[in-house]
Amino acid sequence: MQELYESENFLWGSATSAYQVEGGIENADWSAFKSAGAACEHYHRFREDFDLAADELCQNAHRLSIEWSRIEPEEGVFDEEEIEHYREVLAYLKEKGMTTMVTLHHFTSPQWLADKGTWEHKAVPKCFARFVRKVAEELYSLVDLWTTINEPLIYTYLSYGAGTWSPQKRSYRAVFRVIRNQILAHKKAYQALHEVDPEARVGLVKNNQYFEAYSSAPWDRLSAAVHSWFINRWFLNRVKGYLDFIGVNYYFHNRMQFPARKKNANEVTSDLGWEVYPRGLYYVLKELERYSLPIYITENGIADAQDRVRAGFIRDHVAWMEKARAEGADVRGYFHWSLLDNFEWADGFGPRFGLVEVDYATQERTIRDSAYVYADIIRNKGGR
Ligand code: FCB
Repeated sequence: MQELYESENFLWGSATSAYQVEGGIENADWSAFKSAGAACEHYHRFREDFDLAADELCQNAHRLSIEWSRIEPEEGVFDEEEIEHYREVLAYLKEKGMTTMVTLHHFTSPQWLADKGTWEHKAVPKCFARFVRKVAEELYSLVDLWTTINEPLIYTYLSYGAGTWSPQKRSYRAVFRVIRNQILAHKKAYQALHEVDPEARVGLVKNNQYFEAYSSAPWDRLSAAVHSWFINRWFLNRVKGYLDFIGVNYYFHNRMQFPARKKNANEVTSDLGWEVYPRGLYYVLKELERYSLPIYITENGIADAQDRVRAGFIRDHVAWMEKARAEGADVRGYFHWSLLDNFEWADGFGPRFGLVEVDYATQERTIRDSAYVYADIIRNKGGR
C-alpha cells in the first residue's frame, strides 16, 4: 500500500458510477423513478472500456461504484453471481495494471431499502455496514482504495431538501435524519472495512466548492466563510478519525454577496451552464490541508458535447492542482469525470461528460480529442 503514496505513483484516471454506465439496473430506487435503461452497457462492455482507458489513454487508475441493489437484491440476501461480476471487473483492472478505487454508495439504493424509507430508515447504518462488510470480505484483495458515500450533502439536498431526486422529499426533518444516518453509516462502514482488512484505505467523497466573497465587505466575507465551513468542512468534521484520505469532487465556484450567492460572471460555461473556474480547485485543496490527510480528486469534469472546452478545462485544472501540490497539498490522484458519456441523473442522457463519446443507439465508443490531451498530460506527469 505504501507505494500508492509515493509521488511517482500519482494516480491519473477517470471515474464512473454503476447506475450511470452499467445498464440493466432494475432493482434500485432510481429504477422506478428514472430508468437509465441500457445506459452504456458497461456491465457487458467493461473490458473494451478499460482497454481504452489504459491502452489508448494512458490512465493508471479507475474509480467505479458497486451497485448495492445488485449485490443485495433482497434484504440480507446476497447475489453470488453479481459478486462474481464485480470480481471480474476489478480483476480485469488489476490485469491492466490499474489502481482501483471503489465507491460503495453512489446515490442509488436497493428498492427494499426504499420501501423502508431509504436513507431515513433508522437501520440504514446497520444495513449499509452489512453490505459493505460482505463486499469487503469478497473483494478486498482487488480494491486499493475505498470510498463509502459519494457526496452525502448533495444527495441529501437533492433527494430530501429540494426534492428533485428520488425519493423526492422536501422536509427538514428528513434532511436531519438522513445526514445523521450518513455519518453513522460512514463510521460503521469504515470500521467494517478495517476489520476485514486492517490495511484498507478508506475515505469519503465530498463535493467541495469554492466560496469567494463578492466584495471585501465584512458581510460578504462572512457569508463566504460560513458557506465554506458548512458545505465543505462540517460533514468532514463529524467523521474525523474515520478517514484515511479525503476524496473531493470539484465543480463549483460561488461568489457570495450577503446573504446568498450572486450570479456568477460566467465567462466560460459548460453545456449545463456550470461556470468553468479552475482556480477554485486550488483554494478547495488549500482548504483541506488542515485535515493533514491524503487527498484524491475523485471527480472533476465538464458537460461539453462538442468537446470545445474540455481540453483546456483539464489542462487548467491540472495546473492549479499542481500549484497546490507544489505548495504542499498532499494530493495523490486525479480522476476525471467521466470515462464515458453517461446517464446524468435528473438531466438524463443529454449532458456529455465523457472523455469517450458514446452513441447510445449503437453503443459505439469514440475517443474525444480532449481525452488524448489528458493522455499527454499523464505522460508528462502533469507537467512536473
Ligand atoms: C457529481 C456526481 C456524478 C456526476 C457528476 C457530473 O455530483 O457525483 O455522479 O453526476 O456530478
